[in-house]
Amino acid sequence: MEKNKELLDLLEKAKEASHKAYAPYSGFKVGAAILTDKGTLFTGCNVENSSYSLSNCAERTAIFKMVSAGERVIAKLAVYVENDMLFPPCGACRQVIHEFGRDVEIVYASKKDIKFTTIKNLLPESFSLND
Ligand code: THU
Repeated sequence: MEKNKELLDLLEKAKEASHKAYAPYSGFKVGAAILTDKGTLFTGCNVENSSYSLSNCAERTAIFKMVSAGERVIAKLAVYVENDMLFPPCGACRQVIHEFGRDVEIVYASKKDIKFTTIKNLLPESFSLND
């Protein structure tokens, strides 16, 4: 399906971004790629810290790059984890994704598995002050 082709292309960008992950503590290398409503691409990786709680997820790195570059609307998002198991975006990232797109199409994948979903599906009954 054409719709999924775009997400699969985005997933390749997320995979490339995962190579940049700074994850010496968890060893969990994550990459994310965003396509905005204007068609712009932003990528991000997780960035860990010796003070563990300061670590930032790949999704939020990409989103913060998008916002700081002047864009506000996520159309599609891909997340890749360099692992055999499949992991969906964490709860904090779901909330941040939702802030910048109510209809975001999402693909997340590991080395062995892949899943297509939406932010509506991942974050039902969401909290928002904007609508
Ligand atoms: N991580 C992400 O990058 N995205 C998620 O959605 C979940 C977790 C990162 C944070 C940390 O660097 C590592 O994965 C282990 O939690």
